[in-house]
Amino acid sequence: MKRREFLLGSSAAAGAIGLGGFGLASAAPELVIQSASFALRDQVTTGMVSLSPDAPPPVLRGRQGEAMRLPVRNSTLDYTAMHWHGLRIRNAMDGVPYLTQMPVGPNELFDYEFTPPDAGTYWYHPHCMTMEQMAHGLTGVMVISEAEDPGFDSEQVINLRDFRLDEEDQFLPAYTQRGAARAGTFGNLQTANWLDTPVYDHISGGLVRLRVVNTDTTRIYRLHLEGAEARIIAWDGHPVDVEVPLPNAEDPLLVGPGQRVDFAVAMPSGEGQMVDLVAKLPGQPHRPMARLRAVGADVARDLRELKQLPPNPVARPDLATAELHEFVFGWTPEGGEPNNGFCGSLGYNFWSINRTPWAGDATEGVGPLAVLEMGNSYVLRLRNESPNLHPIHLHGLVFTPLKSNLRKLPPLLTDTMLLLKDEVVEIALVADNPGDWAFHCHVIEHQKTGLTGYIRVV
Ligand code: C2O
Ligand code: CU
Ligand code: CU
Repeated sequence: MKRREFLLGSSAAAGAIGLGGFGLASAAPELVIQSASFALRDQVTTGMVSLSPDAPPPVLRGRQGEAMRLPVRNSTLDYTAMHWHGLRIRNAMDGVPYLTQMPVGPNELFDYEFTPPDAGTYWYHPHCMTMEQMAHGLTGVMVISEAEDPGFDSEQVINLRDFRLDEEDQFLPAYTQRGAARAGTFGNLQTANWLDTPVYDHISGGLVRLRVVNTDTTRIYRLHLEGAEARIIAWDGHPVDVEVPLPNAEDPLLVGPGQRVDFAVAMPSGEGQMVDLVAKLPGQPHRPMARLRAVGADVARDLRELKQLPPNPVARPDLATAELHEFVFGWTPEGGEPNNGFCGSLGYNFWSINRTPWAGDATEGVGPLAVLEMGNSYVLRLRNESPNLHPIHLHGLVFTPLKSNLRKLPPLLTDTMLLLKDEVVEIALVADNPGDWAFHCHVIEHQKTGLTGYIRVV
């Protein structure tokens, strides 16, 4: 079956409804993708993209095992499609243009409906006009709470991302040819929740669940905490069930684009004392990205009061029967330009998977990189044949790293594996979610210039 036939026959026709074609009774408020203005630095930056005219995309909330309905309306002049990063949901709701749905045109609505099987910290972003819309602001955090309250006093969500602004605080082009061919084009303003080092109040001596998400298009953040006792309790959404050392100034935690880390933080007992989420940025001293301030009378909680978070229902691969597939990430000798249809192109290809650059989202007849059989276990060998780092992301499935040629990797469940220079990592998974799952680098300039493909589970 051709991709387009499949699309017109199923999800796209059911989900894409133009203006006036309502008929879907629901209380779920529409999420309206629209242009926005916000003072990111001194002057108001215009031409941002968000879900309201003057604020960052909100934290969207759901509950593990409960159905969610997210009607997304496009009120921009460009096409779009919304992806729910890390959620193991039905393929038709995954938001990948041409692969799982048709792009959502101006004034159209796509009704996303799914039931998240896993609790944890996830996020959302467009997968069509990805570069433009993400760089201009459209990246938000999604929190799926556990069925049972894990016992924190409060929660703090931090969405880390850069913007690339000129002297008047207006957008510079989001990418450069030079950047796309290397590590990507970096922003020049680092923000947390669109703010410059915001300060958030939490009860003195309380236990805070700090959810940190890197939604940047390019930057790998190097992070640590200062001023508190803390523990890493989840990584890329999933509860951590092995001891993960807490990062520090000398040995910060690498959090690539798309990755998330949850900390349990014990606030200091003294009113006014600060806990800093610190980043090491190249060529700069350490700087706090966000600060938690202790307020009120000390409630004297202790990290040891927290129970381990309940594990998500992820199947464990059977390594004895697992079939091996290899993937090589590197440059392309071919160049050329991807055909992304309505979803935007940078105009060139620099990158490839298995030496073939992605032909473009709208190109028909492009086969999957691998076909996995439903229910079987697999080992994927991911080889980075380039000097640049690549956060390699797989949709719809969750995997565990087994080994690396360069370092010891804790076996933490994830959807995004950050590959270091010349690193080879083997990951294992159970192919238990049917569909065509996008598989790409999350440095958006790499994704959009060839480092993309998909894996089919049948
Ligand atoms: Cu976070 Cu294919 O995306
Ligand atoms: Cu994703
Ligand atoms: Cu990359």
